[in-house]
Amino acid sequence: TSVTNDPYVLAAEAASTLRNLTGVDSFDVALVMGSGWVPAADAIGETVAEFPVTKLPGFTAPAVAGHAGTLRAVRTGAGLDALIFLGRTHLYEGRGVEAVVHGVRTATAAGVRAVVLTNAAGGLRPETQRVGEPILISDHINLTGSNPITGATFVDLTEVYSRRLRALAREVDPSLADGVYVAFRGPTYETPAEIRMLRTLGGDLIGMSTVLEAIAAREAGAEVLGISLVTNPGAGLTGEPLNHEEVLEVGRSTATRMGGLLAKVVDKL
Ligand code: 6GU
Repeated sequence: TSVTNDPYVLAAEAASTLRNLTGVDSFDVALVMGSGWVPAADAIGETVAEFPVTKLPGFTAPAVAGHAGTLRAVRTGAGLDALIFLGRTHLYEGRGVEAVVHGVRTATAAGVRAVVLTNAAGGLRPETQRVGEPILISDHINLTGSNPITGATFVDLTEVYSRRLRALAREVDPSLADGVYVAFRGPTYETPAEIRMLRTLGGDLIGMSTVLEAIAAREAGAEVLGISLVTNPGAGLTGEPLNHEEVLEVGRSTATRMGGLLAKVVDKL
């Protein structure tokens, strides 16, 4: 129904449809559930409405495989209205950077002031990281070659991942480590030589998401909390090859812990 090609106008239209479909006027927080995190979503609150994201303007189903994802509106125990994206669009799907950040832009247009971005990541420091461990993202290195902002808009990225929200998360779980998340475009996993390079560059975690959404959230003035679930060491750090099934399995086996963590953090916002 929309004719605009301005991504911010399209997000405002999606937010308007979202209000109509959920009966919620303004949302407080959005959560993006990455690979392995979807089973943790049930702990966050009571579902008010749930539908395919494609019901909203600007979200399109992928041309080839998979589905665009599900959107769930939730009322939390503390009475906050949360918007949960079960699945996200990745840059490697080829639908462009605007499709990748449309969810975050829709959420901020719907009133959200805090965005929780979760992902599954390869661990670049197996000396100190364990598979199945959640790690707070302290900063990122964007090696996707992309950026959601066009034109001479010079957004400050000194504190992309909010210190305040990281401290709140540590009130819930003082054992949480933090680290620098590096994003590649994917969809291939990295070579062992690339993994060695990223360790030299100061990366702690490697994945294919989050950084573009975090930039879009900061452009909109929202606070960002990023959490990676370490699902495997990066290529070449052990003898093992990588596969997507193990990423999903680590999520299934840690869903209770991750759900509890998210529910408690959201209720402190
Ligand atoms: Cl090792 N690399 C990337 N790019 N994404 C991942 C991963 C590795 N492990 C889980 N997700």
